[in-house]
Amino acid sequence: MKPMYSRIAGTGRYLPERVLTNQDLEQMIDTTDEWIRSRTGIERRHIAADDQTTADLAELAARQALDAAGLEPEAIDFIVVGTTSPDTVFPNVGCLVQERLGIRGCPAFGIEAACSGFIYALSIADRFVATGGAQHALVIGAETLSRMVDYKDRATCVIFGDGAGAVVLEPSAEQGIISCHLRADGHYKDLLYHPYGVSKQRKPEDTEGPYIHMRGNEVFKVAVRSLESIVDETLAANDLEKGSIDWLIPHQANLRIIQLTAKRLGMPMDKVVLTLKDQGNTSAASVPMALDVAVRDGRVQRGDMVLLEAFGGGFTWGSALVRY
Ligand code: UT7
Repeated sequence: MKPMYSRIAGTGRYLPERVLTNQDLEQMIDTTDEWIRSRTGIERRHIAADDQTTADLAELAARQALDAAGLEPEAIDFIVVGTTSPDTVFPNVGCLVQERLGIRGCPAFGIEAACSGFIYALSIADRFVATGGAQHALVIGAETLSRMVDYKDRATCVIFGDGAGAVVLEPSAEQGIISCHLRADGHYKDLLYHPYGVSKQRKPEDTEGPYIHMRGNEVFKVAVRSLESIVDETLAANDLEKGSIDWLIPHQANLRIIQLTAKRLGMPMDKVVLTLKDQGNTSAASVPMALDVAVRDGRVQRGDMVLLEAFGGGFTWGSALVRY
């Protein structure tokens, strides 16, 4: 019989040891701790060691999630990694994690949807597990965005950090992942982007550096509108009232964006999981890391109704309603 739902069996995270504080940034660029804290809510972020890659971070988060689920790697039969900062063009980070876990044969792939990468990945894995196409899916969001940030550009370098978060999904007859909602609008491609890749390479005459470029204030406005609309859509699709969500686990991009989304849901800020003060914006890693923090410190309990959401370059955005 088909299981109907997937549910989260375990969560994990990994943050690199090196920390870059606002005070460190004051020494590097024309900024202040006061500006960064008041405009973003960020105080420090973690940066991968020179020899650490996205797959290193992803593997450590995955091992924690497996431990929490009480599973050996052999149980995993589906791997998907949301990342915009893969180690190599190919093999994808999913394959690299698969090899490190010592397992073979199951599908393993990456999803490139910027900060929404984990929500996109979760949505796909959920459909496989809920329909019997996989038994135990490893879903990871992992980034080393520091590798594509210009540490002379104060508009971006104060924001981003590195990290990885992971969940293991298992089949369930009871509600787990209830609904996922994915959106994108490529017309906003010029507001937040990295100008080069494989097919489009930097030419000698190109003036833009090979870094993340962001028109922050314009991104901010679309992010708020899009997230308000996706949370409305998620509640409506499930016939839920605003008060039915126990925990909001938002993408950690900007405290002011998070506060506006919480307001839309009528949620007090003590029901919102915040990690951005200590982690900055870790793109696809931020939602699974925040979920893991709240599960491990006992805030998110089994049976709680949790709303995950994210917004990022593309633009892409999305939500997942979860009965933890
Ligand atoms: O995760 C993917 C999605 N990304 C986001 O959601 C990011 C959304 N955007 C934001 O979080 C905010 O727009 C920022 C935090 C990036 C910027 O905050 P803002 O309040 O929108 O500032 P702004 O870009 O309008 O800039 C205001 C002023 C400007 O100076 P003038 O023109 O008013 O003189 C900037 O040059 O702040 C200046 N500024 C800075 N000052 C000190 C910009 N960056 C800095 C800085 N330190 N790091």
